[in-house]
Amino acid sequence: MADLFTLSEEHRAFQEVVRKICEERIAPRAAEIDANAEFPWDVKEVLAENGLLGLHIAEEYGGSGADALTFVIMAEEVSRVCASSSVIPLVQKLGTMPIALAASEEQKHAWLPGVASGEDLISYCLSEPDAGSDAASMKTTAVREGDEYVLNGTKVWISMAGPSNMYTVLARTDPAAGAKGISAFLVRSEDPGFSVGKAEDKLGIKGSPTCQVHFDDCRIPAERLIGEEGRGFYYAMAAFDHTRLVVGAQAVGIAQGAIDFAADYVKGREQFGKPIGSFQGVQFMLADMVTEAEAARGLVYAAAAKADRGDSDLTQFSSMAKLKAGDVAMSVTTDAVQLLGGYGYTKDYPVERMMRDAKITQIYEGTQQIQRMVIARQRLGKL
Ligand code: CAA
Repeated sequence: MADLFTLSEEHRAFQEVVRKICEERIAPRAAEIDANAEFPWDVKEVLAENGLLGLHIAEEYGGSGADALTFVIMAEEVSRVCASSSVIPLVQKLGTMPIALAASEEQKHAWLPGVASGEDLISYCLSEPDAGSDAASMKTTAVREGDEYVLNGTKVWISMAGPSNMYTVLARTDPAAGAKGISAFLVRSEDPGFSVGKAEDKLGIKGSPTCQVHFDDCRIPAERLIGEEGRGFYYAMAAFDHTRLVVGAQAVGIAQGAIDFAADYVKGREQFGKPIGSFQGVQFMLADMVTEAEAARGLVYAAAAKADRGDSDLTQFSSMAKLKAGDVAMSVTTDAVQLLGGYGYTKDYPVERMMRDAKITQIYEGTQQIQRMVIARQRLGKL
């Protein structure tokens, strides 16, 4: 029973290896990636060559078939040093999930090995200009014409659009059937009628491109349909069950990075003749930051365990993990800036970047308000 609340030997050893890679190969690049708002191809290579982009993919499709907790540990460690870089494995998993959940064996064998090796990058296209929180109101259409589907519409807020060459796209195959009229497809960047549009100029995760994606009579072979026609919305929601908890892990990692930096700082910074960390006011702030981050981590790990076991309350726990961890990341990074005072407000120190990066964890993969809706519906049913 004692093992319940601690990482196993294997998980701990994995965490150590990943931390070393992150400290040595990713952390030194973080400030530059943020300042230049560049997609870090070199970091993508580091992740790929260490097998970290294939953790979530089963061995038979070229991945390592790691459990959800292993993925969470990796997401946490990468986020601790560079949140922009952590979006790469996070979105690889999100784009993959509908395929893992619903694609045929043939499709999985054809599509997943490239994602697992990092040769292919895959994005997830759900949101539209008028369909954000209300995802089921999407208007992008996919019309069957002979052996093809023809897609028309615009998707927005697409993480990694541009670098990605594969896109899991949700589109409407029945205009009258609401959530039951949505289907999932795999679109490739070279498909005719596919284009990447405006890139957003964002507050944080600046090294992760977020763009519009356009489908103008985009023709794809009919065998790119994932699962059954009309089931796409279910796959999209079921995918979130496995990935919202990963956003939680990202948030915990960002919070941990800020805590680690601020703790070192308050030990070294002297005012009134002693380290500011010796003042009780500072100690109490740090104690709350550490406690909140551990509470969030516990919820993220619990959700990961539920994902592996296939527990029926995964939906609720995944949303709770993201909700708690996103709010903790925001408050902890804000307090870290406070502990550094004026220095924390400058780009000479990483905590202002962490504070900007933390904000996205309260917004994407469903706002904190949507997570509350999901949690309440799980408890009460849809009233
Ligand atoms: N698993 C399986 N099926 C599910 C499900 C789940 N977790 N959640 C809902 N469904 C099913 C429901 O059972 C229902 O099916 P039936 O009608 O057959 O019972 C169907 O889906 C529709 O569900 P709802 O009636 O609950 O749908 P809704 O329209 O009220 O919306 C919502 C539900 C939770 C608000 C959903 O729209 C939502 O999650 N919105 C937020 C969208 C979002 O997260 N966007 C993020 C964009 S992606 C992103 O951010 C990625 C990135 O950049 C990194």
